Amino acid sequence: MSSEVLDRGLVMDAVRVTEIAAIAAWKLVGRGDEIAADQAAVDAMRTALNDLNIDGQIVIGEGERDEAPMLYIGEKVGKGKGPKIDIALDPLEGTTLTAKAMANALTVMAWAPKGSLLNAPDTYMDKIACGPGYPEGVIDLDKSPAENIQALADAKGVEATEITVCVLDRPRHAEIIAQVRAVGARVHLITDGDVAGVMNAADPTTGVDLYMGQGGAPEGVLACAALKCVGGQFQGRLVFRSHDEKARAARVGITDFDKKYDLHEMVRADAIFAATGVTNGALLDGVRLEGGFVHTHTLVMNSATRTVREVRMKRPV
Ligand code: FBP
Repeated sequence: MSSEVLDRGLVMDAVRVTEIAAIAAWKLVGRGDEIAADQAAVDAMRTALNDLNIDGQIVIGEGERDEAPMLYIGEKVGKGKGPKIDIALDPLEGTTLTAKAMANALTVMAWAPKGSLLNAPDTYMDKIACGPGYPEGVIDLDKSPAENIQALADAKGVEATEITVCVLDRPRHAEIIAQVRAVGARVHLITDGDVAGVMNAADPTTGVDLYMGQGGAPEGVLACAALKCVGGQFQGRLVFRSHDEKARAARVGITDFDKKYDLHEMVRADAIFAATGVTNGALLDGVRLEGGFVHTHTLVMNSATRTVREVRMKRPV
């Protein structure tokens, strides 16, 4: 489906968008102002998107129209000519990481043909993910951490003690963390940034085998777009803490509030995924200033061709 819609030229267009947002956010690294850092990335990303020959619509963005003046859900971006695409973005994934100059802040975006991305509301989502190369169904959100770890260990041909699970370091995850440790597996805690957390599970160089826990639903869609390109499995279920959150879900067309989504229900066609490092991380180097040039490091992937590229850019400041 995507090959006619997502022209290859869009791959480099996506890179330019996440690069420019990363440079804008990087100017705010370590300055203690999460809002300013996010706003800088949003402004830069929106300007870059509106310069492109696409007929784009934000499906995962900065929030609903009344709360986000820019890149709100439903906003049209691009010049209105060209391919009709759904856009999921997180102009700054790791606002706190950026404000505190901590590792792993990214700018992230995914493109897919119109109508093919889950319009996830801005709620939490219970998530589980693993990398490629395992039998379909090896992990299951409805099974316990111990069962999932054992199933993955069996499929990998190792003991459960050899499995590493990435989890967001939050009090709500105390039970998951306790259960993972109870079977002797390792817990890799992250303070923020579960798009990268899920992606780490699909990258053998990180040593992470599984991602488990509750994070943002929009980040879940972005992570699925990344896994669509590199392979892997993901399951997620929306978590509602109030009637207002259910109303949000209803407004984006969700009718089954208990549905367990898999990767291919969240990203229903081929996708292009791009992420640029703002600060250094396991996946990407952060923005760097050297010799009068600003340097960026971007990962861009196209699920239609299964191509994964790392793009290093430098330009005069
Ligand atoms: P922001 O950069 O938008 O703050 O999101 C960072 C993040 O860690 C996400 O990666 C994750 O899905 C979510 O926040 C978790 O939410 P919370 O901080 O409320 O636990």
